[in-house]
Amino acid sequence: MTHEAGWAHADGALKGPSWLREPPDPNALVPRLWSATAHKTDGDLTIGGVPLADLVAEHLSPAYVLDEADFRARARAFREAFSAYDVFYAGKAFLCTTVAAWVAEEGLCLDVCSSGELTVALRAGFDPARIGYHGNNKSYPELRRAVAAGVGRIILDSFAEIERLDAITAELMSTGAIDAPVNVMVRVTAGVEAHTHEYIATAHEDQKFGFSITSGDALEAVRRVVAADGVELLGLHSHIGSQIFDSSGFEVAARRVLALHATVSDQVGVTMPEMDLGGGFGIAYTTQDDPSDPAQLATEMSKIVEHECRALGIAEPRLSIEPGRAIVGPAMCTVYTVGTVKPVALDGGAVRTYVSVDGGMSDNIRTALYDADYSCTLASRVSSATPVLTRVVGKHCEAGDIVVKDEFLPSDIVPGDLLAVPGTGAYCRSMASNYNHALRPPVIAVRDGVARVLVRRETEDDLLATDVGDLS
Ligand code: LLP
Repeated sequence: MTHEAGWAHADGALKGPSWLREPPDPNALVPRLWSATAHKTDGDLTIGGVPLADLVAEHLSPAYVLDEADFRARARAFREAFSAYDVFYAGKAFLCTTVAAWVAEEGLCLDVCSSGELTVALRAGFDPARIGYHGNNKSYPELRRAVAAGVGRIILDSFAEIERLDAITAELMSTGAIDAPVNVMVRVTAGVEAHTHEYIATAHEDQKFGFSITSGDALEAVRRVVAADGVELLGLHSHIGSQIFDSSGFEVAARRVLALHATVSDQVGVTMPEMDLGGGFGIAYTTQDDPSDPAQLATEMSKIVEHECRALGIAEPRLSIEPGRAIVGPAMCTVYTVGTVKPVALDGGAVRTYVSVDGGMSDNIRTALYDADYSCTLASRVSSATPVLTRVVGKHCEAGDIVVKDEFLPSDIVPGDLLAVPGTGAYCRSMASNYNHALRPPVIAVRDGVARVLVRRETEDDLLATDVGDLS
């Protein structure tokens, strides 16, 4: 391929990852990476009927832009595809009061894993009976609060929690604060290693979550729960990891968990009515990802469970799942403003173009933490310049502050251009930090041409509010 002369084109030797292809038209969106209403008109990226340039003119950047129709459609697609299951939206991916209300309106249940998430859900008026409460270290006050609030199920993760819950239910029953046992599940580790980044694989044995099936701890936990007066055992819970594309991991986990389910029935004499297979369904961050849709997932998972139950000769428990990323991930993008463009000469004469934007690892830690890949597009104009392999970086004091490691962007990107990164709905705002005293960006919902602030941008007063300012 011939290149024009100039610094931006001296990149002959610069190789991106093998999956990344130079796009035929760098102005075009790759539809499956974007939320359903995203499209470009003369280069202006518009989502929910709102041009992002207008949104930034009013609300500044960076900003997370949440496509309400897309979020609701994904939630509904899971509920409809898994109509025989309970679908718990995993709030850790992203939660705010309005989103909790959308989850309720779309008929999903909610998975919370902290007191803070519970507070948001209760503030939204979420029916506590439809909330599952997770966590690997739930304190006595946290458990007590969840029980007193009427949380529908608590997923137990340690022997200490079983003891705490036993004491709490005894206390609350004696005062009449509760009059029925608390529903619980026992989280087990099925010894399955999800094919994904090590830090986000959660079901191999050498990790903090759950009770091991192979060591016998899981069966022992079940016995202790059954022996406790104030709790009712709904079933076993297994979550095997995140960003999973291959259903064979779920298959192995379901087989092992159902085998324990059958053992409990045989040896403990209790037939548990339910089983939860967790979340972890992958999404497309870049063109290398090819996720299944909820209908395909539902067909595959139901088949696996049906087959195993038939082989074990047991009745199928009522199933539940906990998707987070697959609902909110693709529904949100982040819009940034370009601040600097810096060609950097590399060994061998190649040049890498570094484009710095006005956010970074404080609003998306996933690239730095998990080596995650993202894509991005020029969102505020059409460019006819040749695409060049570009690295989009943030403004933080750290070399690893990378937003998008490799993307072909037009070679005429200049300060003031808007860039948008799709797929930032899950684990970006929820894992955002104030590193370098950055102000965390707002979450702005867009629908039918209207932009609505759901979470406002932080201010310097917010930063100073927790710094008591003691100069004595
Ligand atoms: N259920 C349980 C018990 C979980 O631990 C998780 C995620 C989910 C459901 C939802 O998983 P999802 O469907 O969203 O993959 N910060 C990491 C992901 C950590 C996931 C923790 N647990 C990331 O950014 O990739």
